[in-house]
Order: sequence, then structure tokens, then C-alpha cells
Amino acid sequence: MNEVKSIKNICCIGAGYVGGPTMAVIAQKCPHINVHVVDLNEQRIDDWNDADLDKLPIYEPGLADVVAEARGRNLKFSTDVEKAIDEAELIFISVNTPTKTYGVGKGMAADLKFIELCARQIAQVAKNDKIIVEKSTLPVRTAEALRTILHSTGNGVKFDILSSPEFLAEGTAIRDLHKPDRFLIGGEQTERGEAAVQSLVDVYLNWVPRENIVTTRVWSSELSKLTANAFLAQRVSSINAISALCEKTGADVDEIARAIGKDSRIGAKFLKSSVGFGGSCFQKDILNLVYLCRHFNLPEVADYWEQVVMMNDYQKHRFSKNIIDSLFNTVSGKKIAFLGWAFKKDTNDTRETAAMYVADELLQDRAEIHVYDPKVTEEQIFADLEYLQTHRVGQYVEQGEVMSINEIRSLVTIHTDPYLAMHKAHATAILTEWDEFKTYDWEKVYNAMLKPAFIFDGRNIIDKDQLDTLGFEVYNIGKGK
Ligand code: NAD
Ligand code: UDX
Repeated sequence: MNEVKSIKNICCIGAGYVGGPTMAVIAQKCPHINVHVVDLNEQRIDDWNDADLDKLPIYEPGLADVVAEARGRNLKFSTDVEKAIDEAELIFISVNTPTKTYGVGKGMAADLKFIELCARQIAQVAKNDKIIVEKSTLPVRTAEALRTILHSTGNGVKFDILSSPEFLAEGTAIRDLHKPDRFLIGGEQTERGEAAVQSLVDVYLNWVPRENIVTTRVWSSELSKLTANAFLAQRVSSINAISALCEKTGADVDEIARAIGKDSRIGAKFLKSSVGFGGSCFQKDILNLVYLCRHFNLPEVADYWEQVVMMNDYQKHRFSKNIIDSLFNTVSGKKIAFLGWAFKKDTNDTRETAAMYVADELLQDRAEIHVYDPKVTEEQIFADLEYLQTHRVGQYVEQGEVMSINEIRSLVTIHTDPYLAMHKAHATAILTEWDEFKTYDWEKVYNAMLKPAFIFDGRNIIDKDQLDTLGFEVYNIGKGK
């Protein structure tokens, strides 16, 4: 093996949901390493530097404490990308890789333009050898393209490219980073490659036991990330498929999840039936996997995975349709309260949230929607709805009418008090599983709502018997009458 480089300066390009928390934890656990996180988005960097820790750009339990410990000591946020690249021995690339919205692969392939930009900038700035780590989720064999760009300058600088995808889940990011099931590193099977892998292993070893650091070839590491997300999403779509059958037959999907989850071969996690999975990763990564399979002429494999996304579209649509059907076939002019907008609890992230798709379908029927979410801003909710007007994807929503932002604003109201959101509502829909919803005074809510008072619990978090007793008309996912 070549000499293993000891890392003293790390740069991370991209200060988002992955770059921010991951680098904050590396800085916290490695006080001897300077960690410099850079981003093109000045507002985001200003927010990371805000003295008021409530203003960090990301809401994530435990994050503020970690930032408070390391920021100003060995953790720095700035927009000076070139300086950070120049100073670092190891560079993480944590930029976004959304689904392409144009050209070849539109609606399926990952858009790698931000990754390419990083590679070109690193190639231009670097004056000495560097280890480049793909932290973003990337299609298999992206490292090859990175290598081509990085080594195109002919200035003699050498780059070792590693893949170390991130497995944190939002809402539990700090816990996942402090105690990861595993960190994964893919590297080249050469002496140089092995030395580069060891440099990164040494960084992670500051808090992660060696047996929890898995090393593989680069291609396996890249494809492991897509595969992990596909398997997790597949479990949610599988239990959601069964939820539809439960509603027809009178079986209870939560009882089924408990029964099958006891089988150690199946396991209990990721069997919670819901209004549909959201988040920036599952749909994007599966579509990317499907695109890769079609590219490699594997149509049967592509169709198999695509069905996971189609089932998720169906689940969101089923929920909206059920609201309209139950409210006597129209929600026009009716007040529908939404509890929750984030794609899951304990995050302010709304990317691909089921709530916006359900809202969009109800708005098509001219419902009046009143939203309460403990962490998502009004600005974000309107931005999501506006974005959806021109970026509808999925078999049930593609044909929808395009509404202007003024029309949307005339029909949607955002509340900071959940009781006001539900006051005189025809129906309440629960879209996110925030814990505080369980603690509400549901009798008070019942008295304030119009009758019959409908509740559509898209997360099965409120005790159905209690709501039945109070007089609500209750609809749960996967619970037959
Ligand atoms: P994000 O959009 O929150 O953050 C990405 C940041 O990169 C943005 O702030 C953007 O301004 C910045 N950026 C883009 N191009 C840049 C450039 N050339 N120079 C400097 N900054 C640039 O995205 P994210 O959620 O952090 O995801 C990043 C990657 O990690 C994606 O590939 C995603 O699939 C993957 N991932 C995300 C999660 C998650 O929970 N969000 C988990 C695991 C993996
Ligand atoms: C996911 C992966 O879990 C994580 O490993 C990867 O790094 C990024 O993508 P994330 O999207 O942040 O993480 O959250 P996750 O907990 O996976 O939930 C995704 C969606 O599935 C949420 O909308 C959640 O509500 C839904 N879900 C999850 C269910 O509906 N039922 C479940 O049982 C689990």
C-alpha cells in the first residue's frame, strides 16, 4: 500500500441536508481536523453562521448542539469554494442530484450538472494531490466520469476518487451519524486506492468501530446506495399495497405489520402504512435505478422497480380520492384542515411530500385548504404548490389543470394554531406523524368542526376508538370498517 495520507483539512461542497449535519458531526468528533463547508447559496451559508441557532437552515433534532460545539473551533461555513478546495487534502462532494427535468432522461435520470461543476472547479483550483469523496447519491460508474474531468487538465495533480454514500435519514440524522449501522467506502483495488480508502477509514474511526465501516469496490458502493433506498421504499409500497386490500376486507394493516414483523427474516422496521412515502431520495433514486436498468437493456428489472413508485402514486391518489368520495363527491368550497406538511416528522423538509400531492388533487376540485405544520414555513408551502403546477409527475396528476399562484393563495391558508386550522372544517386530514398531534384535545376539535366531522388519518397515529366515541367519522389507512 502507498503511504496513507493523514487528513488535517476537509472541504465539503454543498451545505444542504447531508453536507451540513455530516460535516458538523465529523468536526465534533475530530477536533484535530479543520472542516470547511462551502456552498454557492449565500443565504444558506448566512443561516449556518447565524448566532441564533434556531435559524439554522435545517431543522434536525440535536443538530444545534453539535453546531454550537464545533462552529468557530474547527467547523467553518463559507461561500469561498476555491479557498476550501485549495486548502483541503480530502474533499466531500455533497451537492444535490435531483431528477432531470429536461432533455435526455427527463423525469428519470439523475441530473449530474452540479456534480460536474464541482469536478471542473476542483480540477481548475487544485495545485496538489487530493482525495475526492462522492457523498451525494450517484448513478453507478459516475466516478469514472469524475476521473475523466479531474484528470483532464494535464497539470500532473493526481486525484483518488472514493464513494462514501450517506445513509442518514432526516429527523434522525444526528443519531444516525453518531451511531451509524455502517459507513460505506468504495475505492479502487490499487495500492493508491487502498491508501486513499484507509485515509477516510481513519477519519471515521474517530467515533465509529472498525466493524461498522464497510469497504468495497467503487461501483458496488455507488450501487449499494441506490439499492438500499429501493429496498426501503419497496417495503413501504408493499405494506401500502396490503393496506388497500385491508380496507376492502376488514383486516387491519397495523396488526398485519405487527404479525409479519415478528418474523426475524422480515423484521419490524419500515412496515408503517401511510399516505405514501415522500422525501428527496426514495422516488429520485428508484427512478434513477429504473433509468439505469433501461439503459443497460434490462426492461424486466426496470419495470419491477418502477412499480414501487407507481404504487406510491396510487396510495397518495387513493387518499385524496377517498376524501372527495366521503365528502359526498365534491370538496368544492369545503374547508379541509391539513395537519402536517413535512414529508415525515422532525424535519422541515417538504421535498416530494405526500401532503402537496394530496393538496393539489383537492385544489383541482376547488377545496379550501387550511394547513398547520409545526416547522414548515408559509413561504415553503406556497413554493411547493406553485412548483407542482408545472412539475407534476406520476400517473394520477400529470393531466391536472395549471393554477396560478393567486388562485392557489385564494384557496390555501396557513395557520400557526392547529385549532384555528380545524375550526369549522368539514374534514381534517393528517399528513405527517408529528407527535404533538396525539396530544390535542380532540373533544374540543370535534365541537369546533362542522358535522359530520370527518378525520382522515394518513398516518394512523390518533386512537381510532377515542375518535369514534367522540362522534367523528374516521378513516384510517388500511383499516376496514
Ligand atoms: P440539498 O439540496 O439540501 O443540498 C445541496 C447543496 O449543494 C445546496 O445547498 C446547493 O446550493 C449546493 N450546491 C450545488 N451545486 C454546488 C456547487 N457547484 N458548489 C457549491 N455548492 C453547490 O441536498 P441534500 O439533501 O443535502 O442531498 C445531497 C446529496 O445527498 C444528494 O445526492 C442526495 O441524494 C444525497 N442524500 C440525501 C439524503 C437526505 O436525507 N437529504 C440522505 C442521503 C443522501
Ligand atoms: C431515506 C433513507 O431511509 C435514508 O437511509 C437515506 O439516506 C435517505 O432516504 P429519509 O427520506 O430521510 O431517508 O426518511 P425515511 O425515514 O426513509 O422516510 C422516507 C419516507 O417514507 C417518509 O415519507 C416516511 O414517512 C415514509 N415511511 C417510512 C413510511 O411511510 N412508512 C415507513 O414504515 C417508513
